[in-house]
Amino acid sequence: MKGRDPAVDETGVDGPAVDGTAAHGTVVEGTAVDGTAVHRPFVIRLAALTDADRIVTVLRRSITELCVADHHNDPGVLGAWLENKTVANVRAWIESPRTYMVVADRGTNTPDTDPMSTKSVDAPDPVRAAAVCGVASMSTTGAILLCYLLPEVQFTGVGRALLNALETEARRRGLREVSLESTVSARGFYSRYGYRPSSNDPANSSLLFKVLTP
Ligand SMILES: CC(C)(COP(=O)(O)OP(=O)(O)OC[C@H]1O[C@@H](n2cnc3c(N)ncnc32)[C@H](O)[C@@H]1OP(=O)(O)O)[C@@H](O)C(=O)NCCC(=O)NCCS
Repeated sequence: MKGRDPAVDETGVDGPAVDGTAAHGTVVEGTAVDGTAVHRPFVIRLAALTDADRIVTVLRRSITELCVADHHNDPGVLGAWLENKTVANVRAWIESPRTYMVVADRGTNTPDTDPMSTKSVDAPDPVRAAAVCGVASMSTTGAILLCYLLPEVQFTGVGRALLNALETEARRRGLREVSLESTVSARGFYSRYGYRPSSNDPANSSLLFKVLTP
C-alpha cells in the first residue's frame, strides 16, 4: 500500500491488535468555551445483537446525509438503498457466521472484557449500544460490505479505525486481499488507504481491491 500504514497512527487511533484487543481513538464531541475541540474516546468492538437498532440509525443517517453524491436525494434511489437496512436484517448479519461486524462505540474506551475475541451476541451494556457511532462489516472471504458512520463523527478517525479492524481480521484469517464496492462519496477515503480498481476491470471503477501486506 502506498502512503502511511493506517495501522500506525500519529493521532491516537490504532487498529485492533492481532490478539483481538480493541482499537481506541477519540471523536470530537463539541467545542469548549475557548474554541478548542472536546474529544470523547471511542473503541472498536464486535457488534452485538442489542446494537441492531442503533446500527440501523447509523446506516440510515449515513446513507441519507453523507451519500448525497450517490443518491442525489432521489427518493427512489434512496428508498431502494435503505430498504434492507432493517433491525431484522442487521440482527441476521450480526449472527451470521459468514459475517464479521464491528462498531465504533463512544460510550467507553475501557471495555470490561476483551470485546474482539469472540462472536458476541449480547451487548456488553445497553448504554454502550446507544453510543454506537459507526459500523463496518466484512464477509469471511474478505468482501467489505459496510463502512458507515454518523455525520457528526465524520473526519474524526472513526472510518479509518473501522477499516483497520476489518483489514486486521482479514489478515488474521489469512486472506491476501480485500475488496469492496465503493460509494462515490467514499472513493477518496478508500483511495487514501490503497484501494484500487482491478486492472482487469478498470471500467467498473466502483469495485475496489487492496492486497494486504502481512
Ligand atoms: C467514508 C467514511 C467511512 C470515512 O470515515 P471518516 O471517519 O470520516 O474518515 P477518517 O476521519 O477516518 O479519515 C481518514 C482519512 O481519510 C480522509 N478521508 C475521509 N473521507 C474522505 C473522502 N471522502 N475523500 C477523501 N479523503 C477522505 C480523511 O481526510 C483522513 O485523511 P488524513 O489522515 O490525511 O487526515 C465516512 O465519511 C462515511 O461514513 N461516509 C458515508 C458512507 C459511505 O459512503 N461509506 C462507504 C460505503 S462503501
